Amino acid sequence: MNIILLGAPGAGKGTQAAYLVQKYGFPHISTGDIFRSNIKQRTEIGVLAKSFIDKGQLVPDEVTCKIVELRLAEDDCKNGFLLDGFPRTVNQAEALSKIADIDYVIDIEIPFARLLHRLTGRRVCPKCNASYHVDFLNGNNVCECGAELIHRDDDTEETVSKRINVYTNQTQPLIDYYKQRGKLISVNGDQSVEEVFAEIVAKLG
Ligand code: AP5
Ligand code: MG
Repeated sequence: MNIILLGAPGAGKGTQAAYLVQKYGFPHISTGDIFRSNIKQRTEIGVLAKSFIDKGQLVPDEVTCKIVELRLAEDDCKNGFLLDGFPRTVNQAEALSKIADIDYVIDIEIPFARLLHRLTGRRVCPKCNASYHVDFLNGNNVCECGAELIHRDDDTEETVSKRINVYTNQTQPLIDYYKQRGKLISVNGDQSVEEVFAEIVAKLG
């Protein structure tokens, strides 16, 4: 199965991806994680990506599409993959359609009012990319894998509101794009993590 996870910043894409990978075993390809790993290693792509991510803007399509094209050509993607955060523009969706057939696009729906709290309270693992929320950490700031959790630089109130605007203007049109192509599965993201996951699994059939 080739699957795309669509949804606003903080909708729960990364959280659901971890569950889906465990159940179906396909590789999880998050363009955000790829950029953050490049930023950490101070690569040329990382330096470029940081200048956009810190402002809540999208990294230019040509850079992002090339990264995904190379990643999807790797052996582990031959029997299916899970894309998280890509495509994010119609232009990216068109580029993707030339290199892969997509089976399902899972759109995690969530009222924007929920996003600020989720993102400003999010803590992530710099080692395995797991997502947590301070509401459930009970003051414990360590990942299951043992690494110290961090607060993402783009999870400030100011940058989150910019990211939501970018999502509305550039990414939301993909909902209709994939609906028209008969690929869209919508799930209610405003319920517990386990309930969202159960809805996805039921709808994937
Ligand atoms: P990216 O890393 O993809 O960020 P995003 O899309 O803004 O999404 P997030 O990772 O913030 O949210 P999520 O949906 O994964 O939520 P999560 O599961 O963590 O991209 C970052 C940046 O990179 C972009 O702004 C852009 O600059 C660049 N970029 C990336 N891809 C690009 C592309 N294709 N083109 C151009 N630029 C690109 O959950 C959030 C929080 O909520 C957590 O604390 C979690 O514990 C909690 N939570 C999750 N589910 C629930 C639930 N059901 N109930 C309660 N809490 C929940
Ligand atoms: Mg994410």
